Amino acid sequence: MINYLRLSLTDRCNFNCIYCTPLEKSGHLSHQELLRHEELARAAAAFVRAGVRKIRLTGGEPLLKKNIAGLARMLKAIPGLKELALTTNGVLLPELARPLRAAGVDAVNISLNSLKKDVFKKITGSNSFDKVQAGLRAALRAGFKSVKLNVIIMRGINDGEIEDLARLSLKHPLDVRFIEFFPVNKRSSRLKGALFTTAELKARIEAAFGKLRPAGGGRIGGPACNFKLKGAKGRIGFISGCSDDFCGDCNRIRMDCVGRIYPCLFSPPTHALRDLLRGGASEAGLVRHIKKAFLVKSKYRKDSPTAGHIEMSSIGG
Ligand code: GTP
Ligand code: 5AD
Ligand code: SF4
Repeated sequence: MINYLRLSLTDRCNFNCIYCTPLEKSGHLSHQELLRHEELARAAAAFVRAGVRKIRLTGGEPLLKKNIAGLARMLKAIPGLKELALTTNGVLLPELARPLRAAGVDAVNISLNSLKKDVFKKITGSNSFDKVQAGLRAALRAGFKSVKLNVIIMRGINDGEIEDLARLSLKHPLDVRFIEFFPVNKRSSRLKGALFTTAELKARIEAAFGKLRPAGGGRIGGPACNFKLKGAKGRIGFISGCSDDFCGDCNRIRMDCVGRIYPCLFSPPTHALRDLLRGGASEAGLVRHIKKAFLVKSKYRKDSPTAGHIEMSSIGG
């Protein structure tokens, strides 16, 4: 059942992560091409009519979207929507965490791969380490229902920090999720040897802290398998995009910032809403089109023959 929409708001990002951003500068989409707030809200309402109960805002970096709190408020007001979440690099959270929570955002996932300024710079190309730390603190203070950290461990780059990152779940009420790196474009393909598998990560964490206890009911509702360290306030999660296969119970659909619908992270866009939205289609017309995309979902999975090149920086994971 498809009940989770990942909505990319922009193809722009203020970071340049080594595992994500393409080498070739592809040029950004023009302002006119991007869906406006009102178009996004109409599309989102139609997805909810079609059965979606959770929306996650992604990017590029979603907080670069103008007046993001206003947009969040519009989306949260959609009748039938149960949860509004977002995935961000965290750099704009010092000023936006409170307004976003006030606008009704329930949950925030923050990408953070290092607790060292120089390593952070090497991975993201950004000098904003202190801002992201402040953003994380602001998110924890703002009262979200959940705050999760997304960590990608890469051999030879940040694998010395596995224990320090896992330790954050002891003191703070947050989930630290270790995501297996996967090559998505030419640049990230160069990092192939960097993959640190979930099995290796678990072994390192258990050697340092003792047995991981299962927490949070396995993978239902998402690709993460969750565990807890003894006495911890938060959890540790593993997203094993390479070594596991969670395509079978996938409940997700994606739409990018120009309204193209992707039945799978690894599929091409199969349907598009922008022309319908701009051509004055009714909600029922939008819902009909969305349901057509839902129908083709089962054709696609990470290893299907159509699986190919994806650009995380525009589809947001
Ligand atoms: P919640 O479970 O709602 O907290 O979200 P999430 O973990 O799915 O979202 P997030 O945006 O934080 O993504 C974390 C990682 O999971 C990213 O690396 C995504 O690319 C990956 N991911 C999310 N959905 C899928 C999926 O459908 N298939 C695969 N292979 N990876 C996914
Ligand atoms: N492999 C695994 N995860 C990735 N992400 C981006 N690129 C990759 C990749 N090549 C993740 C980031 C971010 C999320 C939206 O997608 O960690 O948190
Ligand atoms: Fe990094 Fe996310 Fe920006 Fe990609 S979209 S460069 S993963 S912060």
